[in-house]
Order: sequence, then C-alpha cells, then structure tokens
Amino acid sequence: MPIETHPVDVLVVGAGGAGLRAAIEAQAAGAKVGLVCKSLLGKAHTVMAEGGVAAAMGHVDPLDKWQTHFRDTMVGGKLLNNPRMAQLHAQEAPDRVRELELWGAVFDRTQDGRILQRPFGGHSHPRLAHVGDRTGLEMIRTLQDRAVSSGIDVFMECTITKVITGANGVAGAFGYWRTTGAPVLFPAKAVVLATGGIGKAYTVTSNSWEYSGDGHALAYDAGAELIDMEFVQFHPTGMVWPPGVKGLLVTEAVRGEGGILRNKDGERFMWKYLPEERRNEYAATDEEAKRWVEAASKGQTSDARRPPELSTRDNVSRAIYTEVKEGRGTPHGGVFLDISYLPADHVRRKLPSMYDQFKELADVDITKGPMEVGPTTHYVMGGIRVDAETGESTVSGLFAAGECAGGMHGANRLGGNSLSDLLVFGARTGAGAAAHAKGRRDQPYVDPVQVSTSERELAAPLERGAGEDPYALQRELQEMMGRLVGIFRVDGDLQEAIGEIAKLRARLPNLAVRGGRVYNPGWNLVFELRNLLIVSEAITRSALQRTESRGAHSRLDFPETDQAGWGDRNGVVRRRADGSMEVATTELPAMSDELRALLGGAH
Ligand code: FUM
Repeated sequence: MPIETHPVDVLVVGAGGAGLRAAIEAQAAGAKVGLVCKSLLGKAHTVMAEGGVAAAMGHVDPLDKWQTHFRDTMVGGKLLNNPRMAQLHAQEAPDRVRELELWGAVFDRTQDGRILQRPFGGHSHPRLAHVGDRTGLEMIRTLQDRAVSSGIDVFMECTITKVITGANGVAGAFGYWRTTGAPVLFPAKAVVLATGGIGKAYTVTSNSWEYSGDGHALAYDAGAELIDMEFVQFHPTGMVWPPGVKGLLVTEAVRGEGGILRNKDGERFMWKYLPEERRNEYAATDEEAKRWVEAASKGQTSDARRPPELSTRDNVSRAIYTEVKEGRGTPHGGVFLDISYLPADHVRRKLPSMYDQFKELADVDITKGPMEVGPTTHYVMGGIRVDAETGESTVSGLFAAGECAGGMHGANRLGGNSLSDLLVFGARTGAGAAAHAKGRRDQPYVDPVQVSTSERELAAPLERGAGEDPYALQRELQEMMGRLVGIFRVDGDLQEAIGEIAKLRARLPNLAVRGGRVYNPGWNLVFELRNLLIVSEAITRSALQRTESRGAHSRLDFPETDQAGWGDRNGVVRRRADGSMEVATTELPAMSDELRALLGGAH
C-alpha cells in the first residue's frame, strides 16, 4: 500500500506557541506550510506559562528598556545564554506582544488603557504583560485563530517519529496517525521542530503527557547537536496535594502579586536564601516588602525593593527543597504560599485560575488561607543548538524554536521569558525555514530505506506476542530521574543514573503492547519512551560533565560556580556514528563590546 503523503515546503512539528508562530511566519513568507501536532490543536504547554509574557514595554516603569531586559536575562541565566539570542529576544519582544494584541489578544490594562505589566522573579522592573493568570491560554487562542484563518494545513493527532535526511540535509518527516495508526509521510524542504519540553522524564511535573522530548530526540537522531542539557528548570511552586494533581503549576504570578512563602513554623524563610551578591536588590524587612506589594497591586512602582519571594526560580526551588528536607515542610511535603492577606476580590480578579484550581482540586479557598506548594519539573533550558538569527540547527534545513531549542536561557530561565522567546524565535525560525525552502532548487528526495525502517520500528511492539509493559518502564525512569538527577546532584548518583538508563534502554526491544493501532496509548508510549531515554541520558551525562554549580544545575560535590573553568563553556551532546552518545563542551558564542558593557560588573 502506498503511504499517505503530504508534500510541503515547511513542515512545523508541534503546535504550541512556537510552532504556531513559526507556521504563521512561514506561511506569510509564501511557503506551503504543514503544521503537525500529536495532540489536539490548542493543547500545549504554552498555557502553563500563566503569569505573563516578558517584554520591556515600559508601561508601568518607563525605566524598563530592552537593555535592562537583556541584562536581567543574562544575569538570571548565569551568563551562559547565547548573548545574541538574549539581545534579539529583548529587542523584539515588545513588537511581538503588540502584534499579538493586533491579532486579538486581550491583555489586562493600566489605568490609562495601556497593556498592564506585573513583576516576576529576577526581572528588575514590572515587565510581564498578562491576562490575569491565563496569559498562555490567551496567546494560544490568538495564535491558533490567526494560523487557522490564514489557511495553514493542520494535521492533528499525528506523531512524527523520524526526520528524513539526505545528501542536502532535511528531506521531510515520517509519522503516523494516532487515531488509526496508519503511517504518513511529509516530504519537506525544511522542518521546524517546536515540540516543547521533556517534563515527562520526571514523575512530578507541570507538563502533560505530550512532553517527552520528541523534538530533542528527533534532532539528535538526525545528527543535530543539543546544548546545555544539564539545565532543567524545577519551578518552585507546583501543587503538592491532593496526589492526583501533584506537580500542577501554581503560577509565579502569585508571588508577583505579593504571595509570601512560609515553612511549617511560620518562618518567612526566603530571607535566608538570598544570594549575598544580590542581597541589595531585595527588601530588607517585611515592612519594605509590604510597601512594594501595595504599590504593585495598584500597578505602580515605589522606592521599596522587591520581596525575597521574587528571587530567581533556581534559588527559590532550592530553598523550598531544603526547608522540606530539613523537616520544616508542611504535612504534605511542601511549604505554605499565602496571598490571603490581600483583599479577596483583588486576589480573585488577579488570579482567577488559581482561585478555581485550589477550590476545585484541593478544597482550599486561597482568599482565606495558604496554599501548599513544592517544586515541579517545568522547563528545560537545554535544547537543539540553533543559529540565533534563523533558528537553523547544525543540520541543513532542520530548524527549532521554543522550548526544544537551546541557548536563549542559559543556566536558568526567568519566568515569562518563555512566552516572549516563542514569539520572537517562532517568528524568526518560521522566516528562516521559509527562506531556506525558497532557496532550495532540488525537490526533497525521501529515502525509501529510512521510510521502511521507520515503518518496521513502528510495527515491532505490536508484533511481539509478549513482553514488558511500557508504562512500568516509564514509571521506573521517572522515579529514578527524580531521585538521582533532581534539584541537587552528586557524582555517585549521576553515575548510577547512567547505569540505570542503560539498563532501561536495553529493555526497549522487549516492550510489547496489546491491541491494535487504533487509539492505542500504550503503543504510542513506546516511541515516547525512546525519546525520554535519549533526553534523560543527555541530561545526566551533561550534569556529570559540569563540575560546578550554576543556575538550575546544583552539584553538592561542586557547590561553587567555577567562572574560570566553566563560565565560557556550553555543554554539547551529539550522536556518534555507532549510535552512542558523546558529551563535550564548546565555547560560548562571542559577545559584542556593546552587550558586554550592558552587563556592567555582572560578567
Ligand atoms: O509561573 C508561571 O506563570 C509560569 C511562567 C513561565 O514559565 O514562564
């Protein structure tokens, strides 16, 4: 039987914010675009960036400029960011947000009718344009409307399992319909990977089932390089109770609006964890923090400095983890986050989703009492190594944008920078892919051997009569990653994890699933597990290699940041010809003198 085939110029894999924005831009540039997603359109981790999109528009504080946003991003990323990406991001984010408004996004407003901006951790000014605590959702709704109305072909419930390559780089992609199990082929001159993150490598995560590192693994298999894979972001505040929703995100906007973190003894513990060199950026007393909150709640700035809860995510997560580990946690193994001291109608207006979420899922009224929260795997800073201008990877014609691309956020991402990242680099990558497709004279040659191998791999778990259950294997992987490659790491654990991953991988060929191809989630999981094992190995080997602590990567055996040894090096992961994984380092991209000057004493 011939395989169902859809030739396109640009194939975008993943329909979250980055994929949608890339598809819109490529289509506007005249390319024939196909947009593939393994779930239903609109179901994307983008919606889990709830508190806002970071852009130096200066609506609340006119002192905010792209230069300050650039500096905050680099300092938050512990200077490991690709500086050109951080520059483009800071410069272009305001226009991308305004464009979104033109396309129909309805942001909260200042008194004089401009887009309102709120404070977030690590941002020196109120910078996050927002829609209550549903910003990502509003962005997806807007981008989705725009993409569909501009006539982009959308292929839903379709999983891509292979990027097909040839002598001239990318030639297309092979996948299958989750609905029927039938294979499908997309010959393409350029492929954009925008598949999001890797959260499903861990048990406790804000990510839903889709986030199994597919783009990372597809790119790695196709010969592209990954960078900075040791940097996994554990968001400080996920739900810890009830068990069925453990890990579900509690937006940083709660802290942006004045939420206070306390341990079981009522201690406001974040005072103890502020990094000494940044101590002067934070309020000195409860009183000063309170004055800051009062001004912020009116959309104003004041001479008060920000509360300690607005430290960067890496730091707040470590603090919460430490409080719990040392016995000062809540009954359900978290800490308290309290916003109930503010007027109830204000809390409900600013945080409507959080109000509903806690009321419905935990029977807690957040206007009357505290929430219980703890760290949850949220985001991966590491990803496919890309060119800052175009989003092209180290494989010709293969592009990446959004969370699955690396470089932008360095060692730690600031909240709100993912939404601006996906807008800025989604647009740039869509343009880059369209230009690449236009410049190609040849028609993509889809190698039949790669197609038939992919078909055989797809069928194998169904054809095995008996074998292991993929769900059991996934649970083992997730538990092991949380235990050995979590917030704090140490050589022995990482070595053990590498051994465990090898053992789990050796069991992949034994996986067997019952039933047929139609809507078979167990069968779908086999492919995702393969990807999860690749990203888990990349994270673990990179974490072992980096013998220092920096941003989201904390080594108990190397607690200091080693600026001289590691400050100018990104970790790199690539596939060797024999299929094994190689981990190395590469020098950070050069920074212009103009940008270096913006960092002041921070570099
Ligand atoms: O906490 C949040 O609302 C998440 C934002 C982000 O990850 O950027």
